[in-house]
Amino acid sequence: MRAFLGIGLPAGVRDAIASATAQVRGPRDPVSWTAPTNLHITLVFLGGMPPERIAIVERSMRAVVSGVGPFSLTAEGGGAFPDTRNPRVLWVGCLEPLELVRQLQQNMWNALSGGAFPLEDRPFHPHITVGRTRGALPPAWGERFVHALSGKRFGIVPVSSVTLYESRLGPGGAAYIPLCDFRLEGAAKREIREEKEP
Ligand code: 2AM
Repeated sequence: MRAFLGIGLPAGVRDAIASATAQVRGPRDPVSWTAPTNLHITLVFLGGMPPERIAIVERSMRAVVSGVGPFSLTAEGGGAFPDTRNPRVLWVGCLEPLELVRQLQQNMWNALSGGAFPLEDRPFHPHITVGRTRGALPPAWGERFVHALSGKRFGIVPVSSVTLYESRLGPGGAAYIPLCDFRLEGAAKREIREEKEP
């Protein structure tokens, strides 16, 4: 099985992102857009693993969540990896405070890396992947995408748990199946704000 740990998004945030990206889609753009139900923030990609290793994930995550409290993020704006001139991964951004999500991700990485999970050691850029390009795009397409999402607020993402997902690749694209949730049990360092009307 292929698995990863991430943060699920409230339906309102997923819908707001989906309607914003719907407005920038061209019918012939070579972009594979993320299905709204699949929108998430990846924290740690575990890769292929035998299902027996779920027990190791559970053990490691129990130690992590006991020391991290709930917090919230704001989904806002957009960008592209590696850059807007050569977009491969199209994303919606996560706004400050990012230190709590960075700390959570670092603690998870530290707890899971090593023997059972040879994790990739690459910088963590919290983001929500909304699409992946599949071919050459018209000039300045990336800039137009970023401009269209610029300054748009898609809502608050309350982070009270981390989810272990199985990623099943099929002919219709990937399906992400939540397997278990790990509730953040430490003391909250910031209040979770309620989503406000724009
Ligand atoms: P993403 O967060 O940029 O979209 C499931 O495949 C999730 O794991 C995706 O959301 C994906 O990235 C993330 N991921 C990270 N590293 C990956 C890798 N080497 N292969 C596939 N997915 C990866």
